[in-house]
Amino acid sequence: MTNEELTQMLDEMWQDYLELNPQARHIHQLFSDLNYQVLNDHIALRTFDLEEVNIDKMATPFLYSGYRAAGEYHFPNKHLYAKHFQHDDPALPKIFISQLMTESLSTDNQLLVHNLVAELDPMQQPPDTLCYCGRPWEVSYEEYKALLAQSEYAAWLAAFGFRPNHFTIFVNALTSHTSIEEVNQFLKSHSIELNSAGGEVKGSPEERLEQSSTLASKVAVEFSDGSVEIPGCYYEFARRYPLEDGSLYQGFVAASADKIFESTDSR
Ligand code: NI
Repeated sequence: MTNEELTQMLDEMWQDYLELNPQARHIHQLFSDLNYQVLNDHIALRTFDLEEVNIDKMATPFLYSGYRAAGEYHFPNKHLYAKHFQHDDPALPKIFISQLMTESLSTDNQLLVHNLVAELDPMQQPPDTLCYCGRPWEVSYEEYKALLAQSEYAAWLAAFGFRPNHFTIFVNALTSHTSIEEVNQFLKSHSIELNSAGGEVKGSPEERLEQSSTLASKVAVEFSDGSVEIPGCYYEFARRYPLEDGSLYQGFVAASADKIFESTDSR
């Protein structure tokens, strides 16, 4: 994959994300008005651990365009496992891909997930388009609710399919704001709701990463038995701190991300 193709793919992911989260366009504009550039720290993707669609499948186009696996994370409470991928070009976003341990679900829900994934047509969705192909299956609101009772993550994935769950403004690169607290204040002054599960700021300077996020706004999803409004995507903000050698920490903090996953919870 050439750099040009990579840029095009990242742009298509951004456009897809804006469709589900129009508020992100507004937030991006608020920061663009005050800054020479607004950099994206990372893009988060969600998937199931089944072989056809797992992290390794979804990472294919990134690995072909100069990204390498750089860290792995366990979220035992949410039955998730994640890896992050990064590129030597620091202007390119890190890619954070998590997958649900399907076996953690009830037998009925496992069968449901297997049936959804079985609808994938590898001719229609080659691995290099999996990260923004959207929902390649039919799902009913009843099925969504059955998954929701067990896993918010599984329900979100069944409803929205494969697409960016969030983009992340890299706070260090802003000239308008220095701290996460300032960013949060600024957002709230524009009536933007933040995820306060576990406190508005997740992480700490000691952990080398502080993050906050908006609450996902509701969007109408077409289920096979009707259209229902459910939480879609959110926007995240990350401030990174230097390691002893002076370079910025590039990883993620499982304990903080655990709470950030809750930004798409139904309320
Ligand atoms: Ni994130």
